[in-house]
Amino acid sequence: MATTILYALSATILLLSLTSVSNACPPSDRAALLAFKAALHEPYLGIFNSWKGNDCCHNWYGVSCDPETHRVADINLRGESEDPIFQKARRTGYMTGSISPAICQLTRLSSLTIADWKGISGPIPSCIASLPFLRILDLIGNQLTGEIPADIGRLSRLTVLNVADNQLSGTIPRSLTNLSSLMHLDIRGNKISGTLPRNFGKLRMLSRALLSKNKLNGPIPNSVSYIYRLSDLDLSLNQLSGPIPASLGKMAVLATLNLDGNQISGPIPPTLISSSISILNLSRNAIEGYIPDAFGSRSYFTVLDLSYNKLRGRIPKSISSATFIGHLDVSHNHLCGPIPAGSPFDHLEASSFVNNDCLCGKPLRAC
Ligand SMILES: *[C@@H]1O[C@H](CO)[C@@H](O)[C@H](O)[C@H]1NC(C)=O
Ligand SMILES: *[C@@H]1O[C@H](CO)[C@@H](O)[C@H](O)[C@H]1NC(C)=O
Repeated sequence: MATTILYALSATILLLSLTSVSNACPPSDRAALLAFKAALHEPYLGIFNSWKGNDCCHNWYGVSCDPETHRVADINLRGESEDPIFQKARRTGYMTGSISPAICQLTRLSSLTIADWKGISGPIPSCIASLPFLRILDLIGNQLTGEIPADIGRLSRLTVLNVADNQLSGTIPRSLTNLSSLMHLDIRGNKISGTLPRNFGKLRMLSRALLSKNKLNGPIPNSVSYIYRLSDLDLSLNQLSGPIPASLGKMAVLATLNLDGNQISGPIPPTLISSSISILNLSRNAIEGYIPDAFGSRSYFTVLDLSYNKLRGRIPKSISSATFIGHLDVSHNHLCGPIPAGSPFDHLEASSFVNNDCLCGKPLRAC
């Protein structure tokens, strides 16, 4: 009797230990994570204290595994978060060190978020482009240098590429337009130079393209207007030149167009004035000609900033027929003539109109 119970017991224990072994992450994934951790230094929160024991799928801070394969699927390490670990430390995260190429041995990785640690430097390991299941790459808010990996376009499942607020240089890799699943591109606040790929419009799934505060030059490619899901295009604070493609005003869902702080020339296409765009900032360029007399019931602007350009002539009468204009700024141009009266203007201050050649009427001096 006793022996039977003993047998049963040991069989159960054997079974239990077998299951826990098969549920644990593979030793190779664990080794890759430990090599990744070894290249980083996180002095204030102790997020890596939990990275111990054999099973990296269980209670390792920021690590999660695929429930079927038990391979590491997500690394989610954010330096700014609501997590209790931050509340306890009463501070945001800070980390130094670099991103180890050992991360590329996690061949089932689906998302890699190492965001807002402020001090992580060194390059983005180029082997990241060989992670076939990667969907999210979010490295915002560090000190990363070097270039976006040249063959990033191999990541056919990538939906989010966010490397904003780093020190990246080089050009936009030509392969980038091969990212046929990409929905969200954010490279703001780096030192990326060169031109926008002519075939940028190949990114058919893109809904947000945020490229401001870089050193991009050359023209805005016409092909951008083929991206029919694009709702937010921010190219501000670069060195872009040439005209604004009129086709941008024909895009179905484009709501925000920020082109301010470039060297854009030529006229304002009338299509922009009666488009789906509600935030339009063209400030601080070399835009010339007249403000198009094309306002109508489709014109709805929370922001219409045309300041610091070379616009001349009058403010068109049709502007009074716009459905809404919240913030209007036409200051620092060469406009002349009376400021139209009517609803969009009732709430505006003189600063919206100052520094023109001869504008007059409320809120400026009488004509
Ligand atoms: C983009 O993908 C195509 C088809 O897979 C390939 O032939 C081409 O070389 C890629 N372009 C770049 C610049 O990587
Ligand atoms: C438009 O862009 C200019 C120049 O970058 C900036 O100073 C201004 O605040 C922006 N306007 C609005 C309303 O955001």
